[in-house]
Amino acid sequence: MSDPVIALLPLFRESLSLAFGDEFAETDPMLRTSKHADFQANCALSLAKTLKRPPREVASALLDRLPHADIIERAEISGPGFINVWLTREYLAKALSEASADLGLTPTETPETVVVDYSSPNVAKELHVGNLRSTIIGDALCRVLEAVGHKVLRQNHLGDWGTPFGMLIENLLEGDVEAGEQSIKNLNAFYQAARKKFDSDSAFAERARNRVVMLQRGDVETLELWKKLVLASTRYFNTIYDLLGVTLRDEHLAGESLYNPWLPQVVEELTARNLAVESDGAICIFPPGFLGREQQPLPLIIRKQDGGYGYATTDLAAVRYRTQSLHATRILYVVGASQEQHLSMVFAAAKVAGWLVEPARAEHVSFGAILGSDKKMFRTRAGETIRLLDLLNEAVSRAQSIVTEKNPNLPPEVQHSIAHAVGIGALKYADLSNDRGKDYVFDWDRMLSFDGNTAPYLQYAHARIRSIFRKGEAEIPSADSVRIVAPEEKALALTLLAYPTVVRDVADSLDPHKLCGYLYELATAFSTFYECCPVLKAPSQSERDSRLVLCDFTARVLEKGLMLLGIESPEKM
Ligand code: ARG
Repeated sequence: MSDPVIALLPLFRESLSLAFGDEFAETDPMLRTSKHADFQANCALSLAKTLKRPPREVASALLDRLPHADIIERAEISGPGFINVWLTREYLAKALSEASADLGLTPTETPETVVVDYSSPNVAKELHVGNLRSTIIGDALCRVLEAVGHKVLRQNHLGDWGTPFGMLIENLLEGDVEAGEQSIKNLNAFYQAARKKFDSDSAFAERARNRVVMLQRGDVETLELWKKLVLASTRYFNTIYDLLGVTLRDEHLAGESLYNPWLPQVVEELTARNLAVESDGAICIFPPGFLGREQQPLPLIIRKQDGGYGYATTDLAAVRYRTQSLHATRILYVVGASQEQHLSMVFAAAKVAGWLVEPARAEHVSFGAILGSDKKMFRTRAGETIRLLDLLNEAVSRAQSIVTEKNPNLPPEVQHSIAHAVGIGALKYADLSNDRGKDYVFDWDRMLSFDGNTAPYLQYAHARIRSIFRKGEAEIPSADSVRIVAPEEKALALTLLAYPTVVRDVADSLDPHKLCGYLYELATAFSTFYECCPVLKAPSQSERDSRLVLCDFTARVLEKGLMLLGIESPEKM
């Protein structure tokens, strides 16, 4: 690990134990980057409370014993008791050249098996905005977790089972099957037609209910039609996944139907152990800690009055499968905020059942809504739900006009592939760069802007660095040619060295916007460096080499960082 924080840690440990005794060696020095120094250690303030001594006195005891090795250039106390630390330029150069090959990102010492439940659209329906955000955020998290060294199991928890399938299959069966299959392509229309019939025609509704029973019993003809519905839908979802450039494949499909055979067993087991009880004809679990408005315990229904199983039962069976068969110790549910209560009840019930025990844990990776410019639900101008395919195509065609205008001389197929990278990149980045818990406003102009915290800005910064090498016909010099002299070089070096820590932080916090913020900061630090420090026209060969190494390092961090977000970095723009 090349991150200076990691290198500073043993120095602070030493001074902590020399100053206050061995029992303080493990105290977190609380090292942070700072405007006033390269790093700032904030531990003296909290230690002062423990030791009942004035903070500045604690800081000075630490400072007096702090070994500098060849890492620290100087250190001093500031304000109420912060310790400001500046690093030597030699250390920074050495750390950069050591980190060059893998950008400093070495695999974690504690790898885990992580299940990521994401995308999870419903069969025979258009992906909703929640599925879109889940697809984008979930895919970025999978990439980040893998980059850190975890084993990631993608699980697309397709909504492919349950009561709606009765009406969908019955409608398909009663109509012209051929035409029906065609109309599945327009998923929303197909669903709405079946729904309309179900709501208005009680005989049809009855047949649809029977059809569910037949489906659950495994009636051959019914299953055939069900498979057709699923196949038509997954084909459509795959078109979207391809366009989006996400890593989801058919092998990651693990829909609700997968758990169907285990549902009776789940309920029996919970009832036999007295964890589930009958209530109003249904079988329910009352997970501890969930109370309704009148303080009454809230039920999680695991078998309905009519004997059917629902969303919650399936989710319980899925937790059990994920811990016991897939051996996951961390299960992430990338699902919208509206399902918060459902998921926490499922997790609580699974804990009681013993299917989710330490070290295994489940986390709801929640996210807010996408809003239109009117701050209301994101819809088309006509007020309809957005057809995702149209949205993605619009992103590419908007990017296409910008790219063609900027690069009129590039061959059309190159223009198109850049437009694809920029359009889809912009859309994804707009989603990922916002704090995921919050709602955000969908704004084409902002997300496609070449200024500010956007994908096009970062992609352009990357392409511009690549063009330096083309223009100068320069090879990438050996990493140990790097020398840190100018303050702008130092600032850039410090930012580059923070990359592995940021990626690890995202793997823990599951907040991709932190990686976005970091990449934006890096592009800004690079542009300041580039303004102040000529590269191709550097005063000497050794400075030119050193700066070319900094350029290449920056380009690779931008490219790799964007890749972790699922965003491409074209060589030219
Ligand atoms: N199919 C659900 C929806 O579209 C999302 C499923 C999320 N995953 C889960 N295990 N419940 O809202």
